[in-house]
Amino acid sequence: MKIDIISVVPSLLESPFAHSIIKRANDKGLLQINIINLRDFSINKQNQVDDYQYGGGAGMVLMPEPLYKAITHLQQTTTYDEIIYMTPDGPTFNQQTANRLSMKEHLLIICGHYKGIDERIREHFVTMEISIGDYVLSGGELAAAVIVDAIGRLLPGVLNDETSALFDSFQDDLLAPPVYTRPADFMGWKVPDVLLTGDPKKVDEWRTEQSIERTKQRRPDIYTEDEPL
Ligand code: 6GU
Repeated sequence: MKIDIISVVPSLLESPFAHSIIKRANDKGLLQINIINLRDFSINKQNQVDDYQYGGGAGMVLMPEPLYKAITHLQQTTTYDEIIYMTPDGPTFNQQTANRLSMKEHLLIICGHYKGIDERIREHFVTMEISIGDYVLSGGELAAAVIVDAIGRLLPGVLNDETSALFDSFQDDLLAPPVYTRPADFMGWKVPDVLLTGDPKKVDEWRTEQSIERTKQRRPDIYTEDEPL
């Protein structure tokens, strides 16, 4: 998979992809991330990419021309499955969206800043809008890092244990069960006996029970009775 990200603050996106699982995905050639600096497509010597909004009001807006130039330049070599605009007024990102996007080949992500981007770019290029929650960030970069991480770890071959994403919280609309590691008794705090039985069927049953209990208690909003076990 290839993900291109257009940003006015590319340095914000360096660290999140330089570590751990996403770095491994990149090293294995499973995920290629390219950061494009919008200022490389600015319209004048001042490197301008934003301007005041028509009608007045505080806050700058990313101008259509630099975005137009950047997007059409990228489209000369890549056909995108989705052109995604990161914006707090988009539909909220969730695991289902991550799953769906992990099956695409080429994504382009546009990070807004200030007041956002000129509406005409949304109308004419953007195919999908994503918010990561009901709060406002100062730019789309951190949100883009969040969705790229969520998508990247789902790509086949990225996780060491290929099955482990299957048991993530939300993957079947249930929260993940509690996990424990050694020692079995830490300062008198004991690991549940069932996990020490070595009986995979019992362990599975216990985990499913715990998942259901946790989901009912913590996220009644996503809990439904007819969960597949
Ligand atoms: Cl995608 N962008 C910004 N600027 N703020 C957000 C967001 C995105 N999602 C939640 N808040």
